[in-house]
Amino acid sequence: MALVAASVVWIVRSQKKNFFALNPVALLESAFSKNEYSDQICRIPKLDINAPAIIKFLHTPKLLNCNQTETNWAFIENGRFYIADEAVRAHGPIKCNHFRFWRVSDDKLASDVISDVQNGSMIEKSDFFRAECNATKNMSWSNLFATIVPDLSAIEKAKAVKKSAAATNLNVYIIGFDSLSSLMFQRKLKKTYKFLVQDLEAVILEGYNIVGDGTPQAWIPILTAQTELELPLTRKRYKNASYIDDVYPMIWRNFSERGYVTLYAEDSAAFGAFYYRLKGFNKQPTNHYMRPFFMQAEKEIKNRRCIGSEPQHVTWFRYGENFFDQYPVDVSKLTIMHHSLLSHSDLNLVELADDDLTTHLMRMRDKGHLNNTLLIVMADHGPRFAKVRETHQGQLEERLPFFSFIMPPWFRQSRGKLAWTNLKMNAKRLTTPFDIHATLMDILSWPTDEQLTDFDVPKKRSMSLWRPIPSDRICTEAGVEAHWCTCLNWESADGYASEVNATARALVQVTSASSACNRLAAGE
Ligand SMILES: *[C@@H]1O[C@H](CO)[C@@H](O)[C@H](O)[C@H]1NC(C)=O
Ligand SMILES: *[C@@H]1O[C@H](CO)[C@@H](O)[C@H](O)[C@H]1NC(C)=O
Ligand SMILES: *[C@@H]1O[C@H](CO)[C@@H](O)[C@H](O)[C@H]1NC(C)=O
Ligand SMILES: *[C@@H]1O[C@H](CO)[C@@H](O)[C@H](O)[C@H]1NC(C)=O
Ligand SMILES: *[C@@H]1O[C@H](CO)[C@@H](O)[C@H](O)[C@H]1NC(C)=O
Ligand SMILES: *[C@@H]1O[C@H](CO)[C@@H](O)[C@H](O)[C@H]1NC(C)=O
Repeated sequence: MALVAASVVWIVRSQKKNFFALNPVALLESAFSKNEYSDQICRIPKLDINAPAIIKFLHTPKLLNCNQTETNWAFIENGRFYIADEAVRAHGPIKCNHFRFWRVSDDKLASDVISDVQNGSMIEKSDFFRAECNATKNMSWSNLFATIVPDLSAIEKAKAVKKSAAATNLNVYIIGFDSLSSLMFQRKLKKTYKFLVQDLEAVILEGYNIVGDGTPQAWIPILTAQTELELPLTRKRYKNASYIDDVYPMIWRNFSERGYVTLYAEDSAAFGAFYYRLKGFNKQPTNHYMRPFFMQAEKEIKNRRCIGSEPQHVTWFRYGENFFDQYPVDVSKLTIMHHSLLSHSDLNLVELADDDLTTHLMRMRDKGHLNNTLLIVMADHGPRFAKVRETHQGQLEERLPFFSFIMPPWFRQSRGKLAWTNLKMNAKRLTTPFDIHATLMDILSWPTDEQLTDFDVPKKRSMSLWRPIPSDRICTEAGVEAHWCTCLNWESADGYASEVNATARALVQVTSASSACNRLAAGE
């Protein structure tokens, strides 16, 4: 019942006679060398969403129940702090202090306190604070808050940039989740998926293939068009490592230069994509940056899944939504968000965010925030640790994360018409994180009609999805190493048991040392 990539079958078949006489290292090198491998056309696997091997690991998780103790005494609306009437009814008059905090470095926060903050006060100076409130009946309550305090100098700077005629001026709102294959997203975020496809007319990429192991290996190509190995050293355990922002050409700088305000929000500090293994940022990388909030939250909150009486993911969604609430409509915005708490180590928990994510996206639409916005809902990769990874389908799903595009209808019908047609065509072709970089750069400088209809373009590693991508593109051309490539042609190797075993043993011998290093290197 062995299933192996056709290239392995090919070596086994073609070398059968003198198989055991060959040096296994040379054999493997020849099998995976560019030429042998690039003979193969790319067939994107059609996977069964109900595959029993996967379905058996799924169940419905227990509800979160964040409001078991005390319903929040206070909330934020339109940048103002309010004390809830119900809390006053239950506990009598309430007085609150704000303990504000902000970033000094990726490891250090500074803070101050403002006393006796009045109901309805504007929130100023920092996006993040803890409210500490007392009621007269010897009751107290405290909670962490995150919102957007617009940076007036950033608005001024953004408005001063002269936009070129090629600029779309579309906002970009990217909301990413950890470890969700395309099918797992559909299984676990059913309502969101339905809303994306039916209401927002999302295009889902069917051949979006990862190019490395782990969250940084997904985001670095999206944000820089390069891999970690191609870029200067940023691994924190090396003394000579640089900070990310000192050496990586992060795409938010390009957006900033073209008059965008920017936001980057991960829901984790200790395990941050650019922090856990890498050295983090020297200066704050974007105008709004959520790391300080989770540094404080991870210090003081035991149950990571709740912030006060509210699920953590709701607080996080609202931070992105507030960015659009609090900045003027005519200031372009780039939002990059990544969420890992629920889905990083568990197949099932992310279902707890389905209703809230749908509500968040509906509110974004209903407030008009999506009217001039490219919305991307995505995942970095599929499940990496769970038992499903031991199945063949699980291995393919790891490599095929969820990726969807939503464009405002008016844009799809006017300036974006050709591009939207191309995107729908490209959705069935091999695409990668490298392509997303080119796709985003085109938002800053929209391709001409000639570029959008040129089907005879040279193949490149990073190709914009608004433009035609060649149908015969294969993994090596797209920067996908054989190990990650899902569009190999899989064949049954029944009848070749001893050769397959010998090949497998040789493969393990050759790669065990190096792959252990790679895994370590890629650890999140
Ligand atoms: C706070 O202000 C709002 C709006 O002015 C008001 O509706 C609410 O009753 C006030 N709450 C308290 C506790 O005073
Ligand atoms: C609440 O009570 C504590 C302890 O008595 C005190 O330190 C704090 O300043 C009080 N906060 C407010 C907002 O009155
Ligand atoms: C208020 O509550 C604290 C502990 O909850 C208690 O130590 C203190 O004596 C109480 N003070 C009053 C005035 O009831
Ligand atoms: C950093 O140090 C490591 C060993 O400590 C060395 O291998 C590497 O070449 C150095 N890199 C740079 C950019 O200096
Ligand atoms: C994007 O910014 C990087 C520096 O961060 C720069 O090297 C690159 O040329 C910019 N790209 C464009 C198209 O402006
Ligand atoms: C969004 O755009 C549509 C169509 O242009 C318009 O009817 C609607 O009022 C806009 N909504 C907001 C909140 O701006």
